[in-house]
Amino acid sequence: MKILVVGGGGREHSLSWAIAKSPKCEKLFCAPGNAGIAEVAECVAISGEDVAGLVAFAKDKAIDLVIVGPEAPLVLGLVDALETEGIKAFGPSAAAAELEGSKAFMKDLFAKYNIPTAAYGRFTDYEEAVAYVRDQGAPIVVKASGLAAGKGVILAQTEDEAINALDQMMNNKSFGDAGDEVVVEKFLEGEEVSFFALVDGETALPLISAQDHKAAYDGDKGPNTGGMGAYSPAPVVTPELAQEIMDTIIQPTIDGMVAEGCPYKGVLFAGLMIKDGKPKTLEFNVRFGDPECQVLMARLQSDLVEALEAAATGTLSEIELTWREEAALVVVMAAKGYPGAYEKGSEIKNLDHANALEGVTVFHAGTKDEDGKILAVGGRVLGVTALGSDVEQAQSRAYKAVDAIDWDEGFCRRDIGWRAITRNE
Ligand code: AMP
Ligand code: GLY
Repeated sequence: MKILVVGGGGREHSLSWAIAKSPKCEKLFCAPGNAGIAEVAECVAISGEDVAGLVAFAKDKAIDLVIVGPEAPLVLGLVDALETEGIKAFGPSAAAAELEGSKAFMKDLFAKYNIPTAAYGRFTDYEEAVAYVRDQGAPIVVKASGLAAGKGVILAQTEDEAINALDQMMNNKSFGDAGDEVVVEKFLEGEEVSFFALVDGETALPLISAQDHKAAYDGDKGPNTGGMGAYSPAPVVTPELAQEIMDTIIQPTIDGMVAEGCPYKGVLFAGLMIKDGKPKTLEFNVRFGDPECQVLMARLQSDLVEALEAAATGTLSEIELTWREEAALVVVMAAKGYPGAYEKGSEIKNLDHANALEGVTVFHAGTKDEDGKILAVGGRVLGVTALGSDVEQAQSRAYKAVDAIDWDEGFCRRDIGWRAITRNE
């Protein structure tokens, strides 16, 4: 098969790496890709958001399957446009991608189909939103309804902080149109996990558990980021809890999407808060998590292409997935300053040495190859991934590889995996 992966982050490197291992893959393209992806795929300079350009390329090269990494092209209707041309694609339609594209749509679906989540209100009127905050009290969470690149969520400790966030979003348009409507919801305590299932419209196939670290600095301090590291398995997700998540959250959502006339296919990513062994849904994403995908791909033994193709074509009930027993852990190396402003263009050295260490694969995110030099050109730059007999060994291998990399302009958290390791002590 000829396959096109859309995207250019660490998630797409790990997907491309797994796809390239499949006997079904004859030729792999990635748009736009990065320096690491270029080692396993032919990168083409088309932006992930250039729907017309991607469709034209897929037609021209007679691509058999397109795998869409990020949410933006999905919300823009890339899968619809490809399918109109008869090209198979892994990912939801624009209508189904509203699960991530509109938090208001998502919360209403939860309410209609009794899916456990935080109590909420949705508002287009500033004064009404303020009144709701005053009524509910703090801590409280304010969310821009539209896509805001992961930054549109404010965990307010006081009512004033929440009202200030509403003012920024609704009156000052700090997130543009994404803040025209806001969701205000109850603050949930607990342990956060990422739960993924492949979906073909009707059938859902759960993946193994993973846990992300959203805060920028050690001890879960500092601003929220796209994710600074992840590991799998997440011990908080017992087999019983995984079944409960499937029965009370994933399957009702899929059935609900069918009933709403926009069946869901692709990967459904539920961000969950677990408290006293019970799950509540924080959010849905319509794509793999980044960096969770890196640890899932490190542990996957089955043929990824077969599974994604089955999700795209409605034959997922025929697929069984097998996973390595080993644990996997990824440490994200980011440019100093991330998630705020950072410099681009510094050189990263010694990647080969790190990659050669036992159990280690270094996935690239914001990198570029310039005359054989690897340059950092993004916020999150590398995902240093390792397998090990348990999370602790995977962690020590990953940090050994981090320490082998020569990049003074980068930083990482030093405590990725702490929850799993403390739990086992
Ligand atoms: P979201 O994009 O909705 O997942 O929000 C980003 C992050 O904010 C989540 O991953 C959680 O860490 C946190 N968060 C979101 N909603 C809540 C909530 N209701 N209670 C506590 N934390 C939340
Ligand atoms: N790592 C969380 C996300 O991809 O949204």
